[in-house]
Amino acid sequence: MDKKGRVFSGARPTGRQHLGNYLGAMRNYVALQKDYECVYSVVDIHALTTMETTQNLKTNTLDMVLDWLAAGMDPQQSIIFVQSHVPQVMELHTILSMVTPLGKLTDLPTFKDKVREQPHNVNYGLVGYPVLMAADIALYKADTVPVGVDQAPHIEFTREVVRSFNYRYNCDVLVEPQMKVTEFPKIIGIDGQQKMSKSLDNHIEMASTPEETQKRVMMMVTDPQRQRRSDPGNPDVCNVFSLHKIFSSAEEVKMIDHDCRHAEIGCVDCKKLLAKNLNSHLETFRERRGEFEKHLDEVEDMLLDGAKRARVIAEKTMQEVRSAIGLY
Ligand code: TRP
Repeated sequence: MDKKGRVFSGARPTGRQHLGNYLGAMRNYVALQKDYECVYSVVDIHALTTMETTQNLKTNTLDMVLDWLAAGMDPQQSIIFVQSHVPQVMELHTILSMVTPLGKLTDLPTFKDKVREQPHNVNYGLVGYPVLMAADIALYKADTVPVGVDQAPHIEFTREVVRSFNYRYNCDVLVEPQMKVTEFPKIIGIDGQQKMSKSLDNHIEMASTPEETQKRVMMMVTDPQRQRRSDPGNPDVCNVFSLHKIFSSAEEVKMIDHDCRHAEIGCVDCKKLLAKNLNSHLETFRERRGEFEKHLDEVEDMLLDGAKRARVIAEKTMQEVRSAIGLY
């Protein structure tokens, strides 16, 4: 079983995942396992750069991992672990920071966004966020990194740091990774305006009960031009329709497209149908998640085993790194 290469990806521990996480990232992580050797990390140290309190860190980590497993990320095939369990990443971060010009970090659009968001907490770790990300990827010598387009500057940065390291120490120890863009239209939240996100509270969680899901779907903002049931609607600008296109059958989509434009179906019925399809789509996921939740100790053992396997790769890379530098 020759695999195409090694994938690395990381996600901050944001707790229970929503449809945007699923369609944008998790589904892709699952699919890649067939062709690549995959390493997936819950990047808890990255999370510290923006966190006011670590109160929910443990539950958020476990909740995300439960969703990952339920979605089909497979610890037998892949390495799934928590970033802080492999301290070598912090060592590589420090070493890579020596070949990183400070200006390159402060120029990154992602850094500028964070400064705008948290001007009271522009910490040293936040500036170094991309260096830690480069260390994540380089530590496992990953050649392929599946991420959304928003992460493109970080991947480009990683490639530059890898080149600088290899050049500076006259070696080819570290591997320059390629970005694999997750091709998926942006998932809009129930507000019908902004990208689905937990912090905006416009999300639909995968692990919710069918009742909660239905409630969230019924709250969705539809075509604002359609005021009354008798007004024709425009599915092209309706987020409920966007989700139908993903979760409903081709016939249903065709029917809604027609009936909405002719005021033959109202928004309430349209949403009820979406909630029903969404719930049946998520049924297996929820059952699986429930099973994992009953065996939390096994899930924790799985994470420790993942970290153990990750540390073997990490330590080997670090030995090469230390030797390339000429550390005593
Ligand atoms: N910065 C990524 C994000 O915010 C998370 C991340 C950390 C990551 N390390 C990584 C992604 C390594 C890919 C590879 O989504």
